[in-house]
Formats: sequence, structure tokens, C-alpha cells
Amino acid sequence: MSKSIPELQKFYSDALSAFDLSIDPQNLYKPIEYLLGIGGKRIRPVLVLAGYNLANDDVEKVIPIAHAIEFFHNFSLMHDDIMDVADLRRGKPTVHKKFDINAAILSGDMMLIYSYKFLESYSDIIQVSLLKLFNDTFGKICEGQQLDIDFETRNDVTISEYLEMITNKTAVLLGCALKSGALISGLNDDDQNHLYEFGKNIGIAFQIQDDILDVFAPSENSGKLQGGDILQKKKTYLYLKSLELLSAEKASRLRSLFEEDIEVSDEDLIAEGTQLLKDAHVNVYAQELKESYQQLAMSHLDAVTVDQSRKTELRTFAQSLLNRGK
Ligand code: IPE
Ligand code: IPE
Ligand code: MG
Ligand code: MG
Ligand code: MG
Repeated sequence: MSKSIPELQKFYSDALSAFDLSIDPQNLYKPIEYLLGIGGKRIRPVLVLAGYNLANDDVEKVIPIAHAIEFFHNFSLMHDDIMDVADLRRGKPTVHKKFDINAAILSGDMMLIYSYKFLESYSDIIQVSLLKLFNDTFGKICEGQQLDIDFETRNDVTISEYLEMITNKTAVLLGCALKSGALISGLNDDDQNHLYEFGKNIGIAFQIQDDILDVFAPSENSGKLQGGDILQKKKTYLYLKSLELLSAEKASRLRSLFEEDIEVSDEDLIAEGTQLLKDAHVNVYAQELKESYQQLAMSHLDAVTVDQSRKTELRTFAQSLLNRGK
């Protein structure tokens, strides 16, 4: 019998709670404990378990991989918050605010080391396959993250470049989570690849939604500063598409807000930027784009050759992820 998503969530959170980080030197491990302790939806580790659970019931076997990917994800957030100058994460101060920048750098590095260390418990053959998948994925994430930062100061970013950037910085990790579960479960290459594509396309939709929530969800819901992407001049789909949708006058004002050093307070910049995105009704287009990736994802899940009944949980989980308010 396959497990339900709530069962897998509970199974994973128990495993994570059992992981002891109250060790020395405390200044290295405390920030890790802190970031893992202030929440997180645990989407990626649950995808590892669910991917494995498509064909096997003994999900404890993939807990080290689930940890590896959740630690990598948290490492990337710890460093991302430095790069994005973000003060708030999961409704709490970011690691570099609560501790300091050095803590966020080194504790983040240690989390990355854990990602690889968790693989030590597998046989040599499995380790080699997982290493290749991790190296490919983690390298793409750094490339995507670099593009995200480059785009802050570039004024000619296209929607297709934005999609390439979010595919790398966010989506491939969801694909990797599912594929690694499927790989250990012994599913064939075609099934593994369909699951990777399912995860990747859910991930693209998920990042489009994250960009929507950044602008439109209050901080109490998202746990992040509302409008943080506008402040950082992120070239998201919302911004790029609004330039196409707005009148020449409003588009030119939006461009100025993102391209020039305008003498306005952070609050006013966010308020005016948000209003222009609202005027463009870009939300409707962003939702449509998100749904097109969601549908593409589902077609890949449909193609996986396991019993339909074992795929139901993944389908509803993906839908719930893409209808969240935080
Ligand atoms: C945040 O990911 C970073 C993005 C890829 C958008 P999540 O929204 O999964 O973050 P947590 O782990 O649940 O806090
Ligand atoms: C995060 O993207 C991607 C990585 C950490 C690699 P964002 O910068 O949009 O994530 P949030 O909004 O801070 O969670
Ligand atoms: Mg970022
Ligand atoms: Mg960020
Ligand atoms: Mg974001």
C-alpha cells in the first residue's frame, strides 16, 4: 500500500527531528538548527519519498536522500538571503540577520557538505548515480542563481531568458528529488525521466507562483518582505510582461523604477511598482503561464508506467502546492 502525502510528511518530519545538531562548535551548527527549526514546507524531501513510494513501500530507505536534498535547499536559501538582501524568511529573521554574514556563509557551506555526506550510506554504485544527478542539478542551480542576480542590473532580459533562469534556479531541484526517489526504486529510465520532467515543470509553475506571491501576498502569509523582488529589481515574468501590457507612459515609468536610481523610499518604490503591475492585470497572464506548466507536468506524470492508483497522491500534492497562499 502506498502512503498518503500527509503520512510521508509526518514520516519525514520525524526523521528530521531525530537529526541532532546540538553539537560543537555551536556557532557552526546553531544557525543550521535555527533555519531548519523555523519551518519550511519540506516539499522536496516529500517528493523524494513519494517518487520512491510509486513502486516501493519501505520509504525509510530514501530518507538520507531526502535529507541531502532538503539540506541543499536550505543551504541555497541561507546564501540566497544574503544575495537578495532579505531580512525575513519563514516569518523570522534570516540567518545573516539573526547571527551574522559569516555564520550564513559557513553554516550554509556546512549544509552543502551534509548534502554529500548523506550519500555515504548507499552502495558505491548508487552513490555514483546520485553524485552525477546531484552535480548536474546543483551546478544548474548555481547557474540559475547567477542569472537571477545578473538580471537585476540588465535591462534587456527576455521572457524566455527568465524561464531558463527559473528552470535552473528552482525547477531542476524538484525534478532531481523525484528522479532520485525513482532511481532507487528501480523504475526504468523512461519513467525516471518522465518523473524528472514532471518535477521540473511543477517547479517552473511553483517559481512563477513564488514570484506572484512575492508581490501580492502579505508578509504574514509568505513569511518574506512583500514586494522584495521589486525592491531588488528582479526581472520576473510579472515585470517583463507588464512592460508589454501597459500603456507607453506607464511602461516607461515602470522601466524607470527598475532601471534608474530614483529618489524614492523603499516603501514608495514597492507601492508604485505594485500598483503598476496591478494596472497591467499581469496576474491573469502569470496564472495562465503557471497553469500551462502545471498541465505539461501532469502529462509527464500520466506517462509514468506505474499503476494509476499509486500516482494519485503525487497528482493531488502537486495541485495543492500550486494553490498555496505562502
Ligand atoms: C523557496 O522555496 C525558494 C523557492 C524556490 C521559491 P520553498 O517555498 O519551498 O521554501 P520552504 O522550504 O517551504 O521555506
Ligand atoms: C530562490 O529564489 C532560488 C534559490 C535559492 C536557488 P528566490 O530568491 O525567489 O526565493 P525566495 O523568494 O527568496 O524564497
Ligand atoms: Mg533569489
Ligand atoms: Mg530570495
Ligand atoms: Mg522569491
